[in-house]
Amino acid sequence: MGAVVAFCSQTGSAKRYADWLAVELGCRMVPLEQIEVVAADADLVVLCSWFHAASLKGAKRFRAYMAAHGEKRYAVVAVGATPMPSELWPASEHEEAFRRSFPAGAYPDMPWCYCQGGFHFERLGAVDKAMMRIYFKMLEGEARKGDQRSGTALAQMREGYDGCERSYLDPLVTELRARGWA
Ligand SMILES: Cc1cc2nc3c(=O)[nH]c(=O)nc-3n(C[C@H](O)[C@H](O)[C@H](O)COP(=O)(O)O)c2cc1C
Repeated sequence: MGAVVAFCSQTGSAKRYADWLAVELGCRMVPLEQIEVVAADADLVVLCSWFHAASLKGAKRFRAYMAAHGEKRYAVVAVGATPMPSELWPASEHEEAFRRSFPAGAYPDMPWCYCQGGFHFERLGAVDKAMMRIYFKMLEGEARKGDQRSGTALAQMREGYDGCERSYLDPLVTELRARGWA
């Protein structure tokens, strides 16, 4: 028994959070593709994945796994490019994006947290690079109209950044311990 952290990551941010969390929980971390084999003995399975066009990568596969293994406990770490909640970036926006993959009606009680990742254009695959070029154009337009968030996001993404902080996992770790799950 014990826990397993299953991760999905393209440029390394979600993998770093998975690594930190696995150390914190004293458990293994594995790519999501190995979940069926590796999580067989685990009673807590945590998905650590990244937002891709407002839905979490691998969520479909994780939901299917959850449905097939109702006896286990589950949690999610959602990693994205947007900053941690603030006046400019209210927590409700992270919640809204998360709920697109794990609707409150179906997953009312599943612990989760948002963690800011990073952005590394050069590490993206060809399709994502093309998507991001279109997104940059959109942000340029918004920034020209005076939208502060778009201007800041565009500048940061063009430059590339690493916004990962281990402490962003603290609320989830606290919650898992409070429930006696970890
Ligand atoms: C094509 C594409 C779409 C993205 N869509 C979102 C999004 O909707 N919301 C968000 O917060 N971040 C979004 N991101 C940013 C990633 O979630 C962020 O860079 C994350 O840290 C990547 O995780 P990884 O390093 O584990 O691959 C997107 C990135 C790419 C390449």
